[in-house]
Parts: sequence; structure tokens; C-alpha cells
Amino acid sequence: MTVQINPSILSADFANLAAELERIRDADWAHVDVMDQHFVPNLTLGLPIVQRLAQVSPVPLDVHLMIEDADRWAPQYAEAGAGSVTFHAEAAQAPVRLARELRGAGVRAGLALRPATPVEPFLDLLGEFDMLLVMTVEPGFGGQSFLDSMLPKIARARRVIEERELAVWVQVDGGVSTQTVARAAEAGADVMVAGSAVYGAQDASARIAELRRLAQQ
Ligand code: DX5
Ligand code: ZN
Repeated sequence: MTVQINPSILSADFANLAAELERIRDADWAHVDVMDQHFVPNLTLGLPIVQRLAQVSPVPLDVHLMIEDADRWAPQYAEAGAGSVTFHAEAAQAPVRLARELRGAGVRAGLALRPATPVEPFLDLLGEFDMLLVMTVEPGFGGQSFLDSMLPKIARARRVIEERELAVWVQVDGGVSTQTVARAAEAGADVMVAGSAVYGAQDASARIAELRRLAQQ
């Protein structure tokens, strides 16, 4: 399985975002965490900043929306230049309609699940999406520990994707590090988000390569 490494700029220096994106030019995507202080107890950045980042980033933007009213806002992130837009199942009224709208706008559509949200009710919807994001921490902050209790959820989703021959990526986000990335990969994740693990390293390129190697073993 080819594994992708998506550093999260949540752990980057917000005063130097263009330079921080350059540091991860060897990554597959740049993961951008949009938080609204309602869906999660933190506030990060929104449309105008994503629009600028999309213009300067050497890699495409993987936008993770942790916001209420995804049905209303997600399509605007597609328009802002994201390559992939992931919204939370808990924040969308009509996830299938929204996924179709995003794909129609030419971006990849992702569905995210908080740790307490089971994957079972969404298994039959997976074909509507390009990616399933299994959160391995409570969303809101970087630097938390990886929840091993999410491994069965990853494995369950991967099994269904294989059985039904779907082309859906399984992303993990939260606590992914050199210590945990192999477990996530073994369970069936193929897109690894890593914030503190990449931006906390002296040499981000070397850390990206290390995560890729550990995940592909
Ligand atoms: C958390 C965010 C993550 C965060 C991960 O709500 O969705 O993308 O940046 O950070 P680490 O990798 O430090 O756990
Ligand atoms: Zn994220």
C-alpha cells in the first residue's frame, strides 16, 4: 500500500506560513485545520487565509473542517483552492449531498469521524467519498496522544473498502508519530496526518521520510 504523509500546519509557525509550507515540500499534501470555536474549542484560520495558502503552497491543500454547518461552508473551501475538503459527519445535515457538491466542484471529498462516532452508520456511504478520516484524538488541538482504541475502527473501514473494491483513502489524524505510525498503517490507514511530529523536527524532510518508511514496513 502506498502511504501518504500530510503534515498539519497547526503545529507550524503561524507568522511564517509560506516558509513553513516550503519546509514540507516533500510531503504529499499540506493538512490545514480549520476550527470555528464552536465545533471544537479552538479557533484557527478561515477562507481568506486558505485562499492565499493555496496560491503559494508547493503541495496541494488537504483541508480538515472542524466547523459547524459544514453544508454551508465546505463548498467555499473548494472554491478557495483546496485539493481535498473533509467535513465532519457530526456537523453535516446531508453528507451525501455535500460530498456530491464537493466532487462536482472538482475536489476530493472526505468524511471525518470524531472518536466517539462509530463508523457503522457510514459504511454504506463510503462510496460517495474519496477519503474517510478517522480521528485518533479529540479534535481541537495538536500534540495529544494517539488513541489506540481507534485501531478497530480503522480496520473495519479498511475491510469494507477492500470487500467492496472502493477507491477510498483512510486517513488518521491525531498523535501520529514515529512511535504510532506503523500501528495506524497496519490497521489499514494509508494517509497519515502528523503535526507536531513533523513541525517539531529539526529536519522536516527527514522526518517525513522516516514516517513514510515506518508506515510502509
Ligand atoms: C487536531 C487536528 C490535527 C492536529 C494533529 O484536531 O485535526 O490535524 O494538527 O496534531 P498532532 O499530529 O500533533 O497530534
Ligand atoms: Zn486535522
